Amino acid sequence: MYVKHSASIHQDNDKIKLEGRICVLYHAIEKGLSLRESQKGFGKEKILKLLELTKKYKALQGDEELLVTCKNVLLAYCARQEKNIDADLRQKIENSELFNMEFSEKVNGGVESLTPNELDFDLYRNFALTRKSVRNFNKDEIEYSDLEDAIEVSRYTPSVCNRQPWNSYIYTNSGEITEALSFQNGNRGFGEQVKGLIVVTGERKKFWHAIERNQVYVDGGMFSMSIVYALHAKNLSSCCLNLNMSARKEEALKSHLNIPASEALIMMIAVGKAATDAQVAVSSRFSTNKFIGNK
Ligand SMILES: Cc1cc2nc3c(=O)[nH]c(=O)nc-3n(C[C@H](O)[C@H](O)[C@H](O)COP(=O)(O)O)c2cc1C
Repeated sequence: MYVKHSASIHQDNDKIKLEGRICVLYHAIEKGLSLRESQKGFGKEKILKLLELTKKYKALQGDEELLVTCKNVLLAYCARQEKNIDADLRQKIENSELFNMEFSEKVNGGVESLTPNELDFDLYRNFALTRKSVRNFNKDEIEYSDLEDAIEVSRYTPSVCNRQPWNSYIYTNSGEITEALSFQNGNRGFGEQVKGLIVVTGERKKFWHAIERNQVYVDGGMFSMSIVYALHAKNLSSCCLNLNMSARKEEALKSHLNIPASEALIMMIAVGKAATDAQVAVSSRFSTNKFIGNK
């Protein structure tokens, strides 16, 4: 699947593949700017590549928000490296299509000061420990907008080189939920009570090196956890549902839900409001020492 769908091949004529490559490049510049001492004139090669790829991306009707980000990153670079950019690079940046584009929207890019925050670990601990997998939901409907809000905040999940290779499919219609759950093997006894369903996927097109072949699952898993916590913060209960299935079943599920073949299935998240008398499995945890391998 990775060989077939990742950006290791046909890199230049696919909008999503370009998106991944552009994120990696602008991220390297942003990251350089955030270091205590950025090297003088760093990133020339990357900037030239960024100019080339953003041009291709724009020609493929690429999203304006990514182009704005790239322009802002270059503006920040020029401001910070004012005395260190060589004349040739400066000219190439200033003459580039990207630099001369006017945008209707403003998206941040570059560097910013960190807002100091005093957080409370006990509050966090309580939040984390009160989340439970619920398999007993009441009849209350789930608002589509609540699930959308969960995705909105989950966008801030970290991802490798900020590639954000996530996608989700949201269902609140009972017929659609039942059909989607018919492909899943772990919802017996409570599937019919599920009022909202999120199918989380990861986009393989945002990766290309052989060593990155599993990254989509790492980033996808992190995104899923954010969604689960966001739902918890909205007082909605959820249960993660595995999507381990045969290739044939995966194909059938994707075709049924219109999920592109390049996307990796991460998990489903069943959502509902817990029944007032709901019991949950204790699911006790091993002691902390068990999770610190070098103690
Ligand atoms: C990726 C993943 C897949 C899961 N799949 C299922 C599933 O198919 N059916 C189910 O009832 N629970 C499923 N679970 C829920 C786990 O059983 C549950 O998270 C675990 O027992 C810990 O309990 P807790 O979530 O209440 O802390 C899944 C959890 C994860 C993270």
